[in-house]
Amino acid sequence: MDTEIVTIEFTQDNLTAAEDRLLREAGEVIRRGGLVAFPTETVYGLGGDALNPASSEKIYRAKGRPSDNPLIVHICRLEDLKKIVARVPEEAYKIADAFWPGPLTMIMEKADIVPLQTTGGLNTVAVRFPSHRVAQKLIEYSGGYVAAPSANLSGKPSPTRAKYVVEDMSGRIDTIIDGGDVGIGLESTIIDLTVTPPQILRPGYVTRQMLEELLGQVEMDRTTMQNDTGEAPKAPGMKYRHYAPKAELLIVEGEQETVIRYINENVTMRRKQGERIGVIATGETCAVYEADVVKNIGSREDRETIAKNLFRVLREFDDAGVDVIYSESFDTDGLGQAIMNRLLKAAGHRLVQV
Ligand code: TXA
Ligand code: MG
Repeated sequence: MDTEIVTIEFTQDNLTAAEDRLLREAGEVIRRGGLVAFPTETVYGLGGDALNPASSEKIYRAKGRPSDNPLIVHICRLEDLKKIVARVPEEAYKIADAFWPGPLTMIMEKADIVPLQTTGGLNTVAVRFPSHRVAQKLIEYSGGYVAAPSANLSGKPSPTRAKYVVEDMSGRIDTIIDGGDVGIGLESTIIDLTVTPPQILRPGYVTRQMLEELLGQVEMDRTTMQNDTGEAPKAPGMKYRHYAPKAELLIVEGEQETVIRYINENVTMRRKQGERIGVIATGETCAVYEADVVKNIGSREDRETIAKNLFRVLREFDDAGVDVIYSESFDTDGLGQAIMNRLLKAAGHRLVQV
């Protein structure tokens, strides 16, 4: 299959007539049962018609993803929620009022119209109303309900720029919309509203604290930060090894000086054995490492930048040809929870405390 790549500069608030036409055409592709990758504020998505079971099956095939892993349905108008959810709970409107459109997904009981192929066989459906204007327009032109997982091959980090979508999806889907780098860089927060109290299944830009301020008590699925709970994650997708770079990844946690010393000692040792070593460092520390490839993920003071850079850095290490990557660790308050959740998954939970 030839994949068409279209660019939407989208620097101002309004789309140009030409951009609007391109999005209408892309919407047509989805209406006809095709697949279109598109930018959102979190990561690039791989979109198909959420109400067409054949489209969802195509999405699984294109990603190489197990079909028990449900897709998120993206909408572009709050009132459309009622059509795909059997019973919209009161909290959903509260949450929508505070965080939609935006980087947050809610799980609710599905309406009959949503095929089980889209929900991975579950009776619940995940719904998100993204804030990215290109995404919104595409959803509108596609008929209003777009199933979209992240636009990466299963197991790889979610794509934060179109180049990575092209690497993973070229030849597998109809169209890729290049809308530049995404703003947030980590996938949406997922909150399950079918349980009381509501439970976060995947931490993201909208933090637990923000949700608790709005709703009172909110729980966090323990498997998001631990892998020894003996429980299966409630979001089926979270059980798979994810974001994993080709090289072995190890997180090192402790006082900054101790971490630096530990990593540098290991670098020296392993280089003697002929290995090439990478380090994920911060703006504060990147100058002190003696590794072959050192990547500055951003300043410790600036979590948003770290979130935005994480998946890009993991992908870049695949091209850097290193055998092992040492990463510094991050505090798990606020956005740090989402950062560490992804980093731990990428590392297969290998964390050394020094
Ligand atoms: O930011 C995002 O959410 C991006 C962009 C494209 O919107 N999408 C995304 O989709 O991250 P995906 O498919 O890569 O991740 C969806 C996660 C999976 O872990 C899946 O198991 C979970 O959501 N999920 C979807 N529907 C669910 C449901 N009904 N119950 C529990 N978990 C669900
Ligand atoms: Mg994904």
